[in-house]
Amino acid sequence: MPNHENQSDKKCRISNKELNLVLDFGMQPLGNAFLSHQEFDSEYFYPMKVGFCNESKMFQLIEQPEPKKMFHENYAFFSGTSKKMGQHFEKFSQSIINSEYFSNPNPFVVELGCNDGIMLKNFANRKISHLGVEPSKNVADEAKKIGINTLVDFFNLLTAKKILDQYGQADAILAANVMCHIPDIKNVVEGMKLLLSPKGIIVFEDPYLGDVITKTSYDQIYDEHVFLFSGMSIKNLFNLYDLELIDMEKQETHGGSMRYILAHKNQYPISSRLEKIFQFEEELGLGDYQKFKKFSANVEQSKKDLVAILKDFKNDGKVIAGYAATSKSTTILNYCNIGSDLIDYITDTTPIKLNKLTPGMHIPVVSYDHFLRQPPDVAVLFAWNHQDEILEKEKKFTESGGKWITHVPEVKVF
Ligand code: TYD
Repeated sequence: MPNHENQSDKKCRISNKELNLVLDFGMQPLGNAFLSHQEFDSEYFYPMKVGFCNESKMFQLIEQPEPKKMFHENYAFFSGTSKKMGQHFEKFSQSIINSEYFSNPNPFVVELGCNDGIMLKNFANRKISHLGVEPSKNVADEAKKIGINTLVDFFNLLTAKKILDQYGQADAILAANVMCHIPDIKNVVEGMKLLLSPKGIIVFEDPYLGDVITKTSYDQIYDEHVFLFSGMSIKNLFNLYDLELIDMEKQETHGGSMRYILAHKNQYPISSRLEKIFQFEEELGLGDYQKFKKFSANVEQSKKDLVAILKDFKNDGKVIAGYAATSKSTTILNYCNIGSDLIDYITDTTPIKLNKLTPGMHIPVVSYDHFLRQPPDVAVLFAWNHQDEILEKEKKFTESGGKWITHVPEVKVF
């Protein structure tokens, strides 16, 4: 088993203060590292623990594998695989284009981690000058194929300088489900500060810590999510670079996300919404390490409940399938020690995951066709964040007696 690199030395990546341990998941594989039998010997594990910094208020992984191990030539996540996400990004783009903050008649938009171009195509289609920055070559190639101007690279201060030289300042810097992936986030924020035009805006969204705590959705914790943000932590982080949080908007995507809107200081009024959100965060305890103990206890309970339900079904001789081989499911399967003794297979629509095994627990990933041809008795909703879309699509399975299991917001069968 190759060793992990100890990158953080247990210090907060923002304040450099000691981190307080919130949860220890033990050795975990990479969430997206679906593998073949031949790759068993070189499977990579690292100790997954999350900590909290009382000063920056940042909830974060204590150690993290090198980004190059995670976002590489064969990165398995394609944003375009969900129809709902396509619609979400169309609306996201429209909200920018129609926004009072987007006033330059010839705007330039930069997206960090543009993936397969699911967001930027909405700008490209309107002939808006844009650049996607995407480190994973295979997904960036998909973006290029649909006409997105794409740079295959990690975004950081150096990249920001290069973009500035070549294209000039950006009127909007966007990111979706990207910022929470970046360990050296201070360097990225510095790059954003440099690249942003005086009246420009930074708009990004990521899974929201408030939802993770209220829904016990601990599966949002995996190698790629080095941070789970709150309004508090984002305000503190950007404040270090004289960037101001001017608005936040709750989103339903990814099981509960938050969109953050930031600008250079004193350029725009601060939205009245912020006060309410900060009050909610205060009451939930997102600013106080001691309050996370309840969350840790809820996670333990969720594990016990899920394993008990699966064992009950298995003892009754039922065939159990996982629905969607998500990165999130890697945390659940490994933390709960659920292997193919409990879940027979996982069905997924992403071609490069097919006929592979899930990271760590080695459950076979099979085609969606297989699920349709031989429906299981029970399906575990690993893509619980796409529940509405999936239940709509799988009416036939449900109507013919198929059962669903979810663990969010608590473990249940329906
Ligand atoms: P997502 O929750 O976005 O994954 P992650 O936890 O990795 O961020 O779900 C994406 C995965 O789910 C992807 O592998 C495709 C799969 N999926 C299906 O197989 N069927 C579906 O109907 C949906 C919505 C997703």
